[in-house]
Amino acid sequence: MSTDVDQDKIPNNVNLSGDKRLQRALEQWLPNYLDWWKAVGPDGFQGKDVYLRTAISVDTDGWAHFGHVKMPDYRWGIFLQPQEADKKIGFGDFIGQPVWNEVPGEFRNMLRRIIVTQGDTEPASVEQQRLLGHTAPSLYDLRNLFQVNVEEGRHLWAMVYLLQSYFGKDGREEADGLLERRSGDPDKPRILGAFNQPVQNWLDFFLFTMFTDRDGKYQLFALSESGFDPLARTTKFMLTEEAHHMFVGETGIDRIVARTCQLMKTGDVRLQGGIDIPMLQKYLNLWFSLSEDLFGGEISSNAADFFAAGLKGRYKEAQYEDHKVLEGMYPMTVLDNGRLVDKEIPLRTAMNEVLRDNYVEDCQRAVNKWNRTIEGSGSGSASGASERLRLPHRRFHRQQGIYAGHLFDPEGKPLIQSEWDAQKDAWLPSAADVAYVETLMHPVLERGKIANWIAPPSKGINGQPFDFEYVRV
Ligand SMILES: [Fe+2]
Ligand SMILES: [Fe+2]
Repeated sequence: MSTDVDQDKIPNNVNLSGDKRLQRALEQWLPNYLDWWKAVGPDGFQGKDVYLRTAISVDTDGWAHFGHVKMPDYRWGIFLQPQEADKKIGFGDFIGQPVWNEVPGEFRNMLRRIIVTQGDTEPASVEQQRLLGHTAPSLYDLRNLFQVNVEEGRHLWAMVYLLQSYFGKDGREEADGLLERRSGDPDKPRILGAFNQPVQNWLDFFLFTMFTDRDGKYQLFALSESGFDPLARTTKFMLTEEAHHMFVGETGIDRIVARTCQLMKTGDVRLQGGIDIPMLQKYLNLWFSLSEDLFGGEISSNAADFFAAGLKGRYKEAQYEDHKVLEGMYPMTVLDNGRLVDKEIPLRTAMNEVLRDNYVEDCQRAVNKWNRTIEGSGSGSASGASERLRLPHRRFHRQQGIYAGHLFDPEGKPLIQSEWDAQKDAWLPSAADVAYVETLMHPVLERGKIANWIAPPSKGINGQPFDFEYVRV
C-alpha cells in the first residue's frame, strides 16, 4: 500500500516519503482510521460531493483549497508550521535553552499524556456529531458540519503523527487507542467529560463549536508555546483550521438569535417554531459549564509541572513579563468547609485558571455580540426586548475542579440541594426542552432554503452565495 502515503494521498510537509519507519506505522494505522470513519464518522452523505476546504501546504495559498469531494476521499494531511532557526524555550525552568526536537526523556510520560488527551478530543467530537447531517437546517450548515468533521479527523492525524514519530511502540499503541475509545461509551469512554456528552441537535452543535472548540483554541495556543517543538509547530497549524469551527458556532448562535428576534415581533416564538431566548440561555449554560471543565482543576500541580517543564505555556506567553513564574500569587475564591473564602495561591499552580480567564473573556466577547444582535433587532417591547444572554458564573454546574460536587446558581451563589432541585430546570435544558428542540430538527436540503428557527448567514463560504450547492445531495 505504499501509494497510500505518497504526497498525493497524504499531503504533508514532514518528508513522509523519506521516513520509512513512520510510513510503515501510518500505513498500518490508515485502514483502521478509515474503518473508524466509516463506522462512527458522519452517518449518511459519505457518497455525496461536499464543498470542502483541504490543506495541501501551510502557505497562505496552500492551506485552503476548496472543491467538491466525497468525505472518505478527503486528503487528511500532516502539516507542521515551518521550523524557526535558533528557537528557544520561552518559559518555565528551561527558559532560554534550545527547543527540543526529540522527546526529553524525563518528561516523556507527561508529554505523551498531553498529546493523547488533546488527540482524544478530535475523534470524540466527530463521534458526537455523527447524526446531525440528517437534520441540517441548510446545505450551507451541512457543509460546515462536514468541514468541521474532516478537520477534526485531520487533527487526529496530527496527534497520531507525533505519537508515531516520536514515541515508538507505546506511541503506536496510543495511536490505536485513539480509534478504540468511543464518545459516551460507558466501558471505553473518551478521556474528557464534555466529549462524552451527547450532541443531539443543532443547538448543541452550535454551542459545542462555540464553547467546546474554543476550549480547544486555548489548549492549542498553550501547546503552541511548547518547548517540544514538533508539538508547538503542529498545534500552530491546527489553530488556523480551528478558527473556522468557532466561526461556525459563534455565527450559528448569532443567526438563531437574529431569527428569534424576528419571530418575537410577530408573536410567541415557540408557537411559531422558533427557539426562544430563555431556551437558548439554558443550552448556553450547559455547554459553557461543560467546556469550562475542560481546563482542569483551578489549583493543579499537573498544570504547574507542565509549565515548569516547558511543555505547556500560557495563551500568548510573550504577552507576559515573567516567564518563570517562580513567585507571584493568584487570587482565588475557594471553598472552606462549604463557605466561600478568598485565598492567594501560587501562580504556577493556577495555570489552568489563568488559561480559563482568557477563555471566559473571549466567550463574553461573543455573548456581547449576540446581545448587540438582540438590541439591533428592534424586536419590540411587547415580547421580551429586555432579554439578554449571559455567561453563568464559573462556579455554576461544574464537574471538575474545586467547585465540583457543590451547588451554585448562575450568579455563583451557593445553594442547598432542595434549592437546586427546585430551580435546575430553569437553568439547564429539561427533558421537555430537549424534546421541544427535537421537534424543530428537520432537514432542509434544498438549495437556498433554510429551517424556520435560524436566519441564513450574511455570506457564504469562500465567496460563494448562500444558495450554492454546498453538498450535492
Ligand atoms: Fe480540533
Ligand atoms: Fe475544532
